[in-house]
Amino acid sequence: MKNPDKTEQIEIDMLLETIYRQRGYDFRNYARASLERRVRTQMDSFGLKYISELIPYMLYDDATFDSFLRNMSITVTDMFRDPHFFKALRTQVIPNFAALPYIKIWCAGCATGEEVYSLAIILKEVGLYDRCQIYATDYNTNSLDIAKNGQYPLDKMKQFITNYNKAGGNKIFGDYYHARYNFVKLHKGIREKIVFSHHNLVSDSVFGEMNLILCRNVLIYFNQILQNRVFTLFNESLANGGFLCLGTRESLEFSSLEPLYKKELVKQKIFRKK
Ligand SMILES: C[S@@+](CC[C@H](N)C(=O)[O-])C[C@H]1O[C@@H](n2cnc3c(N)ncnc32)[C@H](O)[C@@H]1O
Repeated sequence: MKNPDKTEQIEIDMLLETIYRQRGYDFRNYARASLERRVRTQMDSFGLKYISELIPYMLYDDATFDSFLRNMSITVTDMFRDPHFFKALRTQVIPNFAALPYIKIWCAGCATGEEVYSLAIILKEVGLYDRCQIYATDYNTNSLDIAKNGQYPLDKMKQFITNYNKAGGNKIFGDYYHARYNFVKLHKGIREKIVFSHHNLVSDSVFGEMNLILCRNVLIYFNQILQNRVFTLFNESLANGGFLCLGTRESLEFSSLEPLYKKELVKQKIFRKK
């Protein structure tokens, strides 16, 4: 008798292999449970019964593939997300950079930009922003366009302000943007040191020597093999004594690179290269 679970696994393997070979996007080492949920949502929206029915779309239909790709990427984010993390960044990590003439930062998986702008605001408030070069990357070009624009719905401001205050913000948050109808646009002064660019953590190579890497709430979507690849990439991109910041549900523990790092702040998932 056929095992329906096994059949579905074969169909998903075939789908991911098709996407990789035809389109160059490699989801084969993404964590399966959440990937399967997203594939099922796509099937439902197309009214399909079998996963394998998605394969012809991936082969022949560019528009459907583009929308599939967009939906595969979960871009949920926030300004000063996990305020305790940003408070620790401000008070315990960033002061270590005060004596550096030049500070290089990589924010990987930046989604629509809220995280990197939060960091920029902190750097501005502690007086180090002018010495920084920040690279913010993602493989989702739609998100990058929003990030570059630095414009967010007005109704999100209440949450942003609450987070900013909890994260130790000591200025008036409203001074960082101007309102336009139902949107707010961040001031140029906050955006000027950030270079947004396309980078795929699965397939692209290292960045120059960074003093700080933020990659938060991205690795949860990857399996252990892919996580190890990305940790190696970060290790090669990080200067000695540099900091690696992960999401609250992510960790360097159990990876082969763990011995090369000190657990600087356990709760905030901040690691320091020895
Ligand atoms: C949930 S968001 C996290 C955003 C932000 N770092 C935060 O913590 O609020 C995950 C981001 O990872 C990006 N991502 C997923 N796979 C990626 C990959 N292979 N390369 C680069 N970015 C990726 C997604 O496009 C998405 O923008």
